[in-house]
Amino acid sequence: MTNRKMHVLVVGSGGQLGHALKLQSSQYPEFSYTFWDRSDLDISVESWVHERVTSLKPDVVINAAAYTNVERAEEDREGARAGNTLGPSFLAEACKSIEALLVHISTDYVFDGNSKTPYTEEDEPHPLNYYGQSKLDGERAVDAVFDHYFILRTSWLYDSYGHNFFNTMLRLAKERGELNVVNDQFATPTYAGLLANDILLLLKKKYVEHVTIPCGLYHYTHAGEASWWDFARAIIKESGLSVPVHPVDSSRFPTKAKRPGYSKLDITKWKTNTGIRISTWEEALQLCVTTASIE
Ligand SMILES: NC(=O)c1ccc[n+]([C@@H]2O[C@H](COP(=O)([O-])OP(=O)(O)OC[C@H]3O[C@@H](n4cnc5c(N)ncnc54)[C@H](OP(=O)(O)O)[C@@H]3O)[C@@H](O)[C@H]2O)c1
Repeated sequence: MTNRKMHVLVVGSGGQLGHALKLQSSQYPEFSYTFWDRSDLDISVESWVHERVTSLKPDVVINAAAYTNVERAEEDREGARAGNTLGPSFLAEACKSIEALLVHISTDYVFDGNSKTPYTEEDEPHPLNYYGQSKLDGERAVDAVFDHYFILRTSWLYDSYGHNFFNTMLRLAKERGELNVVNDQFATPTYAGLLANDILLLLKKKYVEHVTIPCGLYHYTHAGEASWWDFARAIIKESGLSVPVHPVDSSRFPTKAKRPGYSKLDITKWKTNTGIRISTWEEALQLCVTTASIE
């Protein structure tokens, strides 16, 4: 590396993770940044991706873009495939041609939930819904192009910005005065603000501090596990609201897309290889609530 700052391109910067990356980037002045939302670059258009990414020539591309509507994906398979499978493969091709690193985000929904223990990177995926399938196909499409990537599978991403469970619970608590929340699906809620920070910290460790961190597939969440009900109760409590939160069975909310009952990810590989401090999901939630009250 010369003295030139490494250049990081974030695509999908209009979403919750993209927004969080933009906020966190000020903490990492050792890199320069470009942020593109969907109007700047639609990752599902191959020629557009090739032309824009190869002319910018970033050192790292972080893909925060995805088709994330799990319910709609069941019917709009073409749309989900475009955003979650084709888009990542076009980004990987563009990265390969300019020798850039690709950081790509995937999901716990690649698993079916039949395990009794946390899923490792070695476990065989078996998605229950088309969103999960399109994300798994995206991982495989990236891997088919090259191996210069970090694919981070995460779960139950939330932030004080954007459409997510955290904001939905706060809105419904105010609108309805009580909540019914499913208590038979378990994983680890993950704060996009901390994920964004840890992605940039990973890059700093690898490229500025020259720590040896092998590329590849990683599971990334906080520590611990929760049901949606546990998570909802904690959101209400941390936000200083007093609203009853009733546990209910997921059969009370029929959905087109099946969800795994248990999709906790084992994060041992991430912890061991990066040495980055892991928060509990409760600590991360406190941080999200505190940060939201300051913004
Ligand atoms: N949310 C979760 O609970 C969760 C859980 C596990 C993993 N993940 C993964 O985490 C990553 C970040 O998700 P997120 O929660 O930040 O999602 P998000 O808030 O829905 O943001 C996704 C962004 O991508 C944009 N986008 C969609 N299709 C695009 C395309 N073809 N080209 C360019 N931009 C496009 C969206 O724009 P529009 O709004 O215009 O569509 C949106 O701004 C994704 O890879 C997701 O699969 C999310």
